[in-house]
Amino acid sequence: MLRGKTVVLGVTGGIACYKAASLASALVKQHANVQVIMTENATKFLSPMLFEELTGNRTLTDTFDRNSGLRVSHIAVAEQADFLLIAPATANIISKLAHGLADDMVSTTALACTCPKAVAPAMNTHMYENPVTQDNLDILRRYGWEVVEPASGRLACGAVGKGKLPEPEVLLEVCLHALSHEKDMEGKRVLVTAGPTQEALDPVRYLTNHSSGKMGYAIAKAAAARGADVTLVSGPTQLPVPGYVTFMPIRSAEDMYQAVVSRSEQSDIIIKAAAVADYRPTQIADNKIKKSDADLSIPLERTRDILAYLGQHKRPGQFLCGFSMETEHMVENSRKKLEKKHLDLIAANNVKEKGAGFAVDTNVLTLISPTQCKELPLLTKDDAAHALLDTILELSK
Ligand SMILES: Cc1cc2nc3c(=O)[nH]c(=O)nc-3n(C[C@H](O)[C@H](O)[C@H](O)COP(=O)(O)O)c2cc1C
Repeated sequence: MLRGKTVVLGVTGGIACYKAASLASALVKQHANVQVIMTENATKFLSPMLFEELTGNRTLTDTFDRNSGLRVSHIAVAEQADFLLIAPATANIISKLAHGLADDMVSTTALACTCPKAVAPAMNTHMYENPVTQDNLDILRRYGWEVVEPASGRLACGAVGKGKLPEPEVLLEVCLHALSHEKDMEGKRVLVTAGPTQEALDPVRYLTNHSSGKMGYAIAKAAAARGADVTLVSGPTQLPVPGYVTFMPIRSAEDMYQAVVSRSEQSDIIIKAAAVADYRPTQIADNKIKKSDADLSIPLERTRDILAYLGQHKRPGQFLCGFSMETEHMVENSRKKLEKKHLDLIAANNVKEKGAGFAVDTNVLTLISPTQCKELPLLTKDDAAHALLDTILELSK
């Protein structure tokens, strides 16, 4: 995924240095060219040799080293960099970066880097929460740095609180987010709904459907990778919450409706990929019901039609995309839905087609707009999500 990209990994003097080694290894597995730069203090925690063995590149620790093989090494490294991540970032380096100091390999290189940059602070909770550190992080944000939120838990110093370096997988996600896709959706606010809804019949049972949420999550991840500001409203699924999205978990159709209504006005693109349960009981059976007493005669009523609401309240310039699941007359039925609900695009699934529909990792979509009908081949849901977003960007030009 990162072939042809150079990640400059800055390592500074904290105990969490050891996680930087796993991160370097994970980046190499993604085919990135990884150039590690360290402060002198970081070398007291971990040997530069470890990173050299992991990355195949000489680890640079001293701007004045005449044997680095590079002319003016900090400038050469800065020019190569597609992304700079400083992890762990000490309170000291954060302070230096915020004020433009350049007196070690990491701070000097960072000052010369024009690529996207991120710091992952890791330190004792009191050091992290100190207003000086918080002000310095705000300064870095203002200068365009991404600040990776530290995790909470038991710290190496014995204290419990915020300040832990996130796990290497999370840091890898930061690099992938920065590098894996062109940011052609920057500035767009995207609202995605995903997963099933659950309608309680009684305190034990509920009505639902087979939606796994995979398609909606793939769309949310793809839009976030392309730089969009994404809100994901999701029913219960087994999927991990994607990074770089605002996550709104819900359970019932009514919850989803309320969440969507609260966000729809400020969204530029709305994609409804959720499979809302069509019916719910008019009243929930009381608590005393025994598991064997499934009362299938409970009267049902239709749940809210969220897509119809969105179509009726679409503001000028807003783009609305729905999904349809059809077992027959897919194009005709989907086109009717497109018109009736005032959609700009409908992604039609033929559930009878092999590799399409719920739970699987692939999909076969037909994208229908008022002016075109485009059949996509069998694609992974990730690729189908990007193809859908390409079409949305094309149509909303
Ligand atoms: C055992 C030990 C652990 C340390 N852990 C951290 C840490 O996790 N975060 C931090 O900001 N500073 C930590 N420090 C303090 C830094 O090492 C110190 O501020 C140093 O000047 C940082 O240098 P650098 O930013 O050039 O790497 C630690 C110091 C010691 C001795």
